[in-house]
Amino acid sequence: MERLRIGVIGLGIGRRHLQTLARMDDVEIAGIADTDPVRLASCSGEFGVRPYATAEALLSAERLDAVSICTPPASHRSLTEDAARRGIHVLCEKPMAPTVSDCDAMAAACRSAGVRLMVAQKKRFHPLVARLKELSHGELGPIRWALVKYALGRVPMDWFWDERDGGGPIQENSVHAVDTLRYLIGEVRTVMAVGGTLFNADRAPQPDVAAVSLQFANGSIAALGLGQASEWAFADERFFFACDGGEARFWGRFDASTEWRMALRSAPDKIVNESIEADDCFDSEIGHFLACVRSGDEPLVTGEDARGSVAVTVAIKESIRTGQAIQLA
Ligand SMILES: NC(=O)c1ccc[n+]([C@@H]2O[C@H](COP(=O)([O-])OP(=O)(O)OC[C@H]3O[C@@H](n4cnc5c(N)ncnc54)[C@H](O)[C@@H]3O)[C@@H](O)[C@H]2O)c1
Repeated sequence: MERLRIGVIGLGIGRRHLQTLARMDDVEIAGIADTDPVRLASCSGEFGVRPYATAEALLSAERLDAVSICTPPASHRSLTEDAARRGIHVLCEKPMAPTVSDCDAMAAACRSAGVRLMVAQKKRFHPLVARLKELSHGELGPIRWALVKYALGRVPMDWFWDERDGGGPIQENSVHAVDTLRYLIGEVRTVMAVGGTLFNADRAPQPDVAAVSLQFANGSIAALGLGQASEWAFADERFFFACDGGEARFWGRFDASTEWRMALRSAPDKIVNESIEADDCFDSEIGHFLACVRSGDEPLVTGEDARGSVAVTVAIKESIRTGQAIQLA
């Protein structure tokens, strides 16, 4: 099999992408780019790959099949459009972009260029999310009510808090929780939220925490506690689901659920308790994307799909700002 030639742009979490790519026999890491010369030199040395000081230089110099875009969200649109114009398939880190119109432009650019665009909503690849997805089509049945606590530790980067870039914790990070619910339950119709800047006064008016109610198109409901309230040392995540056929929950350290518990209504005393190995999902996510590049199949998280998760996080902040319920199309 001919090896796919891959580039990586942005070497924060991009370094984690490189670790996965470096272990794949059917991949050649053709080059990396970062505007930070220290990170660039460090990753170039560690992975033995050609460094480029700009994304443009990488995309012009190398004949790439695909690229991982791992820069902050404000640059996702222009980098995706540039790659698409050159016929390069794109794996773009979450959140897809700061605005829904940016997301739409990215999806359209990749469609018209005939390249695959996958957004790295990695939680869809988590083994417990995948198990719940399967069970919700089987013995657990549809999810009717979900409760989520998803509160990360402190994040110092300015871009993370900038409304025109990361959009703060309710967008940059909570998009993982929102996307998980959309994947498991379906499209969101109504968003109601209260929130505020309760723990990071220097970041006002960007809300750092939110209490959110969602109603889905199928009538299911969810309540979410989101934001940056924890210290990393004790930050955790908790997901609870009441379904037609029973209840399930999973939880663990933040971004690393390892515990699973479920019971069916037909056998309420037979409670299943299980622990799994921690899985950061990058191997399965990147493996899936590259398989789609080879086969031409649609990836599990298309641009048209992922834009819906950005739309919900934007609506949460709009509801906080206006005090109104927001209806999504
Ligand atoms: N899926 C996950 O679990 C996960 C985890 C962390 C970050 N992320 C996402 O990855 C993206 C980056 O986050 P991060 O934590 O790595 O940020 P970061 O600030 O640590 O790193 C970003 C890097 O991109 C470089 N960069 C910025 N603009 C660039 C450009 N135009 N061209 C080339 N290089 C550029 C910066 O110099 C920096 O080294 C964000 O969208 C974030 O949400 C996802």
